[in-house]
Amino acid sequence: MTKMDQPKKRLHLRTALVVLLTIVCSGLQAQTTTINPFPPTPNPDRIVLNVTQDPSTSIAVNWRTCDTVREGFLEIMPVTADPRIAGKATRKQAKNELFKLGDIAATYHSVVVPGLRSKTLYMYRVGQGAYWSEWFHTRTAGKPGDKLSFIYLGDAQTGLKTLWPRVIRAAYAKMPDAGLILYAGDIVNRGNNDNEWGELFYGGSFIHSTIPGMHSPGNHEYARTGDTLSAFWRPQFTLPENGPEGLKETCYFTDVQGMRFISINSYRVEESDEDLQKQKAWVDSLLRHNPNQWTAVVFHHPFYSIRPTRDNVRMRNTFKPLFDRYKVDIVLQGHDHAYGRGMQKIEGATKDERSGTVYILSVSGPKMSSVYEGNWMDVSASYTQLFQLITVEGNTLRYKSYTAAGELHDAFDLIKQKGKPNKLVEHKPDKKQ
Ligand SMILES: [Fe+2]
Repeated sequence: MTKMDQPKKRLHLRTALVVLLTIVCSGLQAQTTTINPFPPTPNPDRIVLNVTQDPSTSIAVNWRTCDTVREGFLEIMPVTADPRIAGKATRKQAKNELFKLGDIAATYHSVVVPGLRSKTLYMYRVGQGAYWSEWFHTRTAGKPGDKLSFIYLGDAQTGLKTLWPRVIRAAYAKMPDAGLILYAGDIVNRGNNDNEWGELFYGGSFIHSTIPGMHSPGNHEYARTGDTLSAFWRPQFTLPENGPEGLKETCYFTDVQGMRFISINSYRVEESDEDLQKQKAWVDSLLRHNPNQWTAVVFHHPFYSIRPTRDNVRMRNTFKPLFDRYKVDIVLQGHDHAYGRGMQKIEGATKDERSGTVYILSVSGPKMSSVYEGNWMDVSASYTQLFQLITVEGNTLRYKSYTAAGELHDAFDLIKQKGKPNKLVEHKPDKKQ
């Protein structure tokens, strides 16, 4: 070999090295893409509290483990600051459900704890053997007449591990004593995608295990065939089974401190005449026999949309007459990836009357659309992630919508008036509160 050949040899060696590294890296990359980022393990994860029919006396908790774990327990006791708690908590055995979907094999565990004291801070943990969660604190609901606070979130759906967490965390930071969190559907983007459920629980973390969730399904919680609810929905949640047959845990209600909350499955109303009729009769009965002073309804497909092409006429024609007749106070919706709030331009039971019901659609995740059609709206927003904080006390409901940046975007009071429609008092959103 001449001296002239040496640089050529170095060049060949370098080329060979680059080729080798490329092969190794592409192999690693292929391997990385197939690794499940949220594998079930013996440690409990996806721990979620849900509303029960009476959250003043009971809680419902679900969690997940790997499928080799075939039992689970919940331990609960009134909160104490004294850490010497060994043996002091009450232990409840979980129902265990083996779950298989594609490559995912897991056990879902669920417990409903009845007989709790109202307005009481409890501590609880879940698990078995050597594998337990941390102790979570949660407060049972009070009685009618007690001041009630709750959070309402529009579609989370995408960016569950990137841009959505800041929203649920900001909501919790501003209202850590919320009695419940309402989710108006499209909580994930693809109902049967395990990663997305993993990201939802990563993003909301302990908030899911601390404040009871009231989850209402959207179109994205249905598999792409259109008719099948996400395989994860019923194993992952324990929601009140007080809805119509065939729609349990998607249609349900809960009464919290003098406010009735109803979840409607709007996707099935839009898709099926039979499910429309079932839900219409059920909602009619719930509103007719309602001992509560206040009523909120949550669902996904809004009565009034941000553009004419997204009109949900079946939902509106089915339920608007009932909401007018029984004086529903507030309707919390999603689906349009924007913000709209209206009441004053919406007619009531007759053309001469104004609506006494406030209709709101909002969005918490980063998927966005722009507002085209604003005829029904008093306030709107495009390209803004939002969360809503609502407080009900006596005759007044106080509503605040904040942006992900923490700015007050919309605020009003809704005041009950005897024998008249609710009065809406606008608050200019220039006051930072
Ligand atoms: Fe949707």
